[in-house]
Amino acid sequence: MTLDGPSGILLRSSTVQTLAMALHELMTNAVKYGAIGQPAGRLDVRWTYEQPEETAEPWLHIDWRESGVTMPPQGASPTGTGQGRELIERALPYQLNARTCLEMGVEGVHCTISIPVSKRTGADRRDGV
Ligand SMILES: Nc1ncnc2c1ncn2[C@@H]1O[C@H](COP(=O)(O)OP(=O)(O)O)[C@@H](O)[C@H]1O
Ligand SMILES: [Mg+2]
Repeated sequence: MTLDGPSGILLRSSTVQTLAMALHELMTNAVKYGAIGQPAGRLDVRWTYEQPEETAEPWLHIDWRESGVTMPPQGASPTGTGQGRELIERALPYQLNARTCLEMGVEGVHCTISIPVSKRTGADRRDGV
């Protein structure tokens, strides 16, 4: 498993709450169906901070990629409640203005979540964190 990205990104408390639910759901799914539950599975979580221009709102981009996962055959009837999917594909865009994508790849789940965030503090900028 890799976790890789910059620290010092400020999130609003409302963002933290909803994002934590989404990450919890992704992790629960990875344990139940994916990379954490399978011996050959691998999970890479990376994130980047994007500041398009001084005046524009910065973005946090999260990339959740599972690999080495044995997935159910294509066209297999869906299992589960679909609540995790619903949270990521509908609640995050609605509550946080996030852009999300959740794909069932042949090697595992690939999920991207992009969220508009607060600007970083001056201290963080100076440290380049
Ligand atoms: N990490 C994963 N790896 C493989 N399949 C997954 C993964 N996450 C979700 N799925 C598939 O997508 C379905 C929907 O997931 P979700 O919406 O979280 O519902 P639930 O967790 O209740 O099954 C799961 O039942 C499973 O078949
Ligand atoms: Mg789930």
